[in-house]
Amino acid sequence: MGFEEVYVTPWEAEAFVDYDKLIKIFGSKPLTEREVELLKSITGELHLMIRRRVFYSHRDFDRFLEAYKMGVKCALYTGRGPSGHTHLGHILPWIFTKWLQDKMGLEIFFQMTDDEKFWHGEGGSLEDYNRLAYENILDLAALGLDPAKTHVIIDSEDIPFLYPIAVKVAKKITFSIQRAAFGFTDSTNIGMIFYPVLQISVAFLPSDIYGERVEVLIPAGIDQDPYWRIARDIAPSLGYPKPTQIHNKLLPGLGLGGKMSSSKPETAIYTTDPPELAMQKIMKAFTGGQPTAELQKKLGGNPDTCPVFKMFEMLFEDDDKRLEERYHLCRSGALLCGECKAELAKRVAQFLKEHQARRRAAESTINKYLARHKFSIAKSNKSRVANITKSLINSV
Ligand code: TYM
Repeated sequence: MGFEEVYVTPWEAEAFVDYDKLIKIFGSKPLTEREVELLKSITGELHLMIRRRVFYSHRDFDRFLEAYKMGVKCALYTGRGPSGHTHLGHILPWIFTKWLQDKMGLEIFFQMTDDEKFWHGEGGSLEDYNRLAYENILDLAALGLDPAKTHVIIDSEDIPFLYPIAVKVAKKITFSIQRAAFGFTDSTNIGMIFYPVLQISVAFLPSDIYGERVEVLIPAGIDQDPYWRIARDIAPSLGYPKPTQIHNKLLPGLGLGGKMSSSKPETAIYTTDPPELAMQKIMKAFTGGQPTAELQKKLGGNPDTCPVFKMFEMLFEDDDKRLEERYHLCRSGALLCGECKAELAKRVAQFLKEHQARRRAAESTINKYLARHKFSIAKSNKSRVANITKSLINSV
């Protein structure tokens, strides 16, 4: 795979990309009826993100589901690079991950990469990103992730969990592999060059913690896929099962092109935005509509390239029939962008009001999510390295 061909990387992505082409470049598989039916046989119903193929691509999702059905120990893994407040694009995969947690009773390992964001050089100090990691946990709590079954690892503080795995992972990865997968150059700082080792290591952590082969499913945006290609290549030689993935499409920002991204705050809706501000951002959004109401009535709009429609489709309209109606009303010109935006603004404002109340209520629960309060280092790694470290600590 040539890096030049890839227009989606973990740090930069368009939103209206050709997702079918991306699958071919990345070498993952489209989600088909077969996997969907298998999922339904476990969950009984299907999340809108599956029905509408917001989650649309996978690697061995079927193998994961079959293992689950056979009673093999399974876990979920996802994460966040806490570069600022959380926006609606970030919570999209977490909503689905929570749904899987509820339906399948699974534990979630959740990585907060304050180190990645510091190395990536978005201007803040390590302490700033560390603080944001804790702040972002409020969103996990507000979305209802189960604190007893959700284990957050904050890289800069919880590295003892990961380091014994990272040491082994690092030995398997050459600089040329890293460069090809991530587009690193001679001027990339070596923190960033090392960082993928840490994101990969969490995929193997559940097996070390439980002392058995744990099948891991990673629900995350397709932009994170380069990590998993490497993780899957090296897993067998380290004695771990290949981590499996299910990939989501990227929620567009409210501007012209581009995914919803922290680097374009005016086109992103943050979970901390006052509802009135979010409504204003939506009312100013770029749409798939015509320049005037007259033209819209005559020619109709294009919901396929409209970030406002995508917000309904990917997050805010659960009813398939009503979504389809909205699609056709837009296409026919009967629905004007102003009305459509106003309706979305109302729904988003309501969501934010409730979410923010849940965030406030969750402030005292942050500790319950931290892996360090639930697993001891010795239990997380049966290797001599970890045990020696533990006994040294005990003797101090
Ligand atoms: P981060 O913080 O960039 O993104 C967190 C999660 O949100 C997804 N995402 C989006 N999904 C839909 N629409 C968007 N506009 C959008 N923008 C971001 C990302 O794909 C991701 O799933 N390096 C990672 C942190 C990480 C991680 C992981 C992520 C560590 N371990 C395991 C996923 C799985 C990062 O900076 O994510």
